[in-house]
Amino acid sequence: MANSLYDFGMIGLGVMGRNLLLNMADHGFSVIGFDKDATKTGALESAATAGTTVKGVADLATMVQLLESPRKLMMLVPAGQPVDDVIESLIPLLEKGDVVIDGGNSHYTDTLRRVKYLREKGIHFMGIGVSGGEQGARTGPSIMPGGDQDAYAKVKPMLEAIAAKVNDTPCVAYLGKEGAGHYVKMVHNGIEYAIMQLISEAYTLLQKGAGLSNDQLHQVFDSWNKGALQSFLVEITADIFLQKDDKTAARLVDVISDKAGSKGTGKWTSQDAMELPVAVPTIDTAVAMRTISGYKDQRLAAEQLYKAPADTTIHATTEMWIKQVHDALYFATILSYAQGLAMLHEASRDLQMDIPLPEVVKVWRGGCIIRSVLLEVFSKAYTENADLANILLDKGVAYLVQSVEANTRSVVAQAAQAGMPVGGLMSALSYFDAFRSGRMATNLIQAQRDYFGAHTYQRIDMPGTFHTEWQRP
Ligand code: 6PG
Repeated sequence: MANSLYDFGMIGLGVMGRNLLLNMADHGFSVIGFDKDATKTGALESAATAGTTVKGVADLATMVQLLESPRKLMMLVPAGQPVDDVIESLIPLLEKGDVVIDGGNSHYTDTLRRVKYLREKGIHFMGIGVSGGEQGARTGPSIMPGGDQDAYAKVKPMLEAIAAKVNDTPCVAYLGKEGAGHYVKMVHNGIEYAIMQLISEAYTLLQKGAGLSNDQLHQVFDSWNKGALQSFLVEITADIFLQKDDKTAARLVDVISDKAGSKGTGKWTSQDAMELPVAVPTIDTAVAMRTISGYKDQRLAAEQLYKAPADTTIHATTEMWIKQVHDALYFATILSYAQGLAMLHEASRDLQMDIPLPEVVKVWRGGCIIRSVLLEVFSKAYTENADLANILLDKGVAYLVQSVEANTRSVVAQAAQAGMPVGGLMSALSYFDAFRSGRMATNLIQAQRDYFGAHTYQRIDMPGTFHTEWQRP
């Protein structure tokens, strides 16, 4: 190296940290990584592409000293206390103007606190959401940066170089102030939870409802991935049905326990949506279904106690049913994005983050877990109206939703009759039906609140706040 100083440093050489660093090196940046675990520093160096400049060190101070000033470094360590610990050990080693990035899934309120704390010391702290898993980190993730614009300008060339590209446009953009990057990533994950839940419901509808084998399921999802449902999650679902178990003769999917794990970002999305408040019922349902999946013993007992409905016949040919389930998945997937994007719209205003939604959907077009052709549709909607409160109000989106509405109703009705658990689809349809109701039944709730608690109400025919002494007949 000419000046023997490195362009970028990484703290934490787990799968994501290592692969992001190697990606940077592949794009011509000289990089250095720190991890206390010497096997990880060794693994980093040995995985480097020939001709690239990659160094691993087991001492943090050494890494910081070897960085070009102003220093640019990222930490990819577990969210929570480990991030604060790294910050504390970095502070004595850094200088004013240095840029520290947290690339993990931190809660945005922690990011806000850290931004303020480090700002007092003259250090730029940025919360950046990184999506795409191991493969994405290595070959092109979707990157969601938030924080101060000056700091972003310093790392922008590198982030643009390593990000996924869609039509040569990098899937990274400045997404707002303070904790906006981690906020956008949190909502990304909420949508991820919702779509994964919906795909699992489509699976049950096809497998239990129409008796499709794993090979047939592969074919269905594979064909869906060539059309309007084209997306990363549908694509990998098609692959999953073909994977053989290496321990038995079964397909792997059939021997995987149905207890679903989670690291908490879906739950955070629901919690923060409640705080705003914004309604994200399909995300809430997805979180709840993972929780119910953990009640294995109770579910087994309940299966004995409660008989399934006597008639579980699906009133459609297999071909028709596959088409209807496709449409229901398409409908509810749009509704999941709509809920998440509406949450970002509201949070941007409420938390003064100035999140540019047209940029968010562009960044999500490639590299991330929720990438899909639908993002192009939403991108067009925001091109026409950058301040759209809900994408369901866009005429183009409305056309798509209406084209699959009847089949969605048919699937939900038949699933309810047959006793199949499709809470995600149901929640999407109920959200839709409430959202498109110019007058809901909530006037009665207002009457009840005023009846028992004198909570007052507004009238439709005159301004003001009213209370009535309700009479028992
Ligand atoms: C991504 C993912 C990732 C997330 C995992 C696990 O965008 O690459 O969102 O950041 O950590 O999907 O999430 P759960 O363990 O909560 O399912």
